[in-house]
Amino acid sequence: MNICCIGAGYVGGPTMAMIAYKCPGIQVTVVDLNQKRIDAWNSDHLPVYEPGLDEIVREARKRNLRFSTDVNAAIAAADMVFIAVNTPTKTFGTGAGRAANVEFVEKCARQIAEASTGHKIVVEKSTLPVRTAEAVKRILENANNGTTFDVLSNPEFLAEGTAVQDLLKPDRVLIGGESQTAIQSLVDVYAHWVPRERILTTNLWSSELSKLTANAFLAQRVSSINAISALCEATGADVDEVSHAIGTDSRIGPKFLKSSVGFGGSCFQKDILNLVYLCEHFGLREVAAYWEQVIVMNDYQKRRFCERMVKTMFNTVSNKQIAIWGFAFKKDTNDTRESPAIYVCRDLLKERAKLKIYDPRVSEDQIRRDLYDVFAGPGGKISDADRQLIDEHVSVAPSANAAAQGAHAIAVLTEWDEFKQLDYPTILSSMYRPAFLFDGRNLLNHHHLRTLGFEVHAIGKA
Ligand code: UDX
Ligand code: UDX
Repeated sequence: MNICCIGAGYVGGPTMAMIAYKCPGIQVTVVDLNQKRIDAWNSDHLPVYEPGLDEIVREARKRNLRFSTDVNAAIAAADMVFIAVNTPTKTFGTGAGRAANVEFVEKCARQIAEASTGHKIVVEKSTLPVRTAEAVKRILENANNGTTFDVLSNPEFLAEGTAVQDLLKPDRVLIGGESQTAIQSLVDVYAHWVPRERILTTNLWSSELSKLTANAFLAQRVSSINAISALCEATGADVDEVSHAIGTDSRIGPKFLKSSVGFGGSCFQKDILNLVYLCEHFGLREVAAYWEQVIVMNDYQKRRFCERMVKTMFNTVSNKQIAIWGFAFKKDTNDTRESPAIYVCRDLLKERAKLKIYDPRVSEDQIRRDLYDVFAGPGGKISDADRQLIDEHVSVAPSANAAAQGAHAIAVLTEWDEFKQLDYPTILSSMYRPAFLFDGRNLLNHHHLRTLGFEVHAIGKA
């Protein structure tokens, strides 16, 4: 068997590496338009940072895993073609700011139609609006070279930072489709390492909708506990105690109840907006408003964090140096898409703070690009004044200590483990007093830091 995957990103790369690793008999080729990305996948410096991924890619590359930019050749040789290209929120036209842009998916479908012969199984891996498979099917069916197609939906549930573990031992694999034979071929691939009872099969639409729903429910839990964090700060309750207490109820469960500066990542916001757009499209106004509130709460949480910093620091942060610890949207990834750090930094920059940013995995290039983009907004054009503000007020530090040197405050925005093991007495001695520390992840030992002399403010703690 021969598999091709279009899109060598955070989803396509790790997922295909795992299939190749676990199925030595299957030839897997991952293709992408981006030559630099493909070169990186073929090198010792993979474009995606994931604990444990290097070994798996190295092993599989020796045998049955290839990365290439020759899209047509890979499609032609494949029995099964995965589509794992990105589907960002539309920034233009109807549904701008809400609907998913499925332009790349359509292009892939057309390219598959053109490059194919015989019979092919096309698998949607990208998260898509419900009923996209229908469009993909119609495009494929209009290929008039005698080729036949089956379309399956196989949404990805891996979380970044734990992708390898999630792929090795998934809670479930979901496969939606119409043709039992096509479904069985994909079941057989996963059955190399996933217990059969964990491979669920549904119709196409259920599979597509389950992905959006899973992400909406997960994000909703974070927004729910974050809403309670604001109430904790007002009342003197402690959000970590509350989440521990409610999490012991087996109906609620302990996971995904960590209050934070807000959720980020490429999926949650995009998928909920997508869900909201779909509901509106079908005239379900109340349902749309219900889910939209999850995003409203998340925006509030990010905004509230900066407001609290400014208020605490005597109502001005203008030209004060603030150390930003962590820029990725969560630990153990170099991904910054929709990271709450981007929005907190933007709001602090609007207050004219000087930021010294440190993240163990995110490059300076990426940090600057994200800040330019957030100031530019959906139009994509940044004003000269904003560009100058970023250039003059942002620097990137090589370590957490260096970022804090000469700072008025530290803001912890990503829960990197290394922040728990720093030499805090030395850090304190290099800072202005009062030395403020704002823990946006409730990561550190606040009691200990207070005894050292830090003034600590944390999420959901009065
Ligand atoms: C994935 C999913 O596919 C998306 O739908 C899901 O909701 C989030 O995760 P991800 O792998 O994180 O996307 O995206 P990204 O890292 O941007 O990778 C997509 C890749 O596809 C990029 O490398 C891009 O160059 C490539 N691409 C895009 C193509 O090869 N062809 C195209 O036409 C468009
Ligand atoms: C998510 C889904 O978990 C995954 O199944 C889906 O395939 C893609 O989207 P991902 O975005 O990679 O994965 O990471 P996730 O672990 O879900 O975290 C998302 C955001 O929520 C992060 O910013 C994280 O810091 C935040 N979060 C998570 C919290 O603030 N509190 C929590 O308790 C959990």
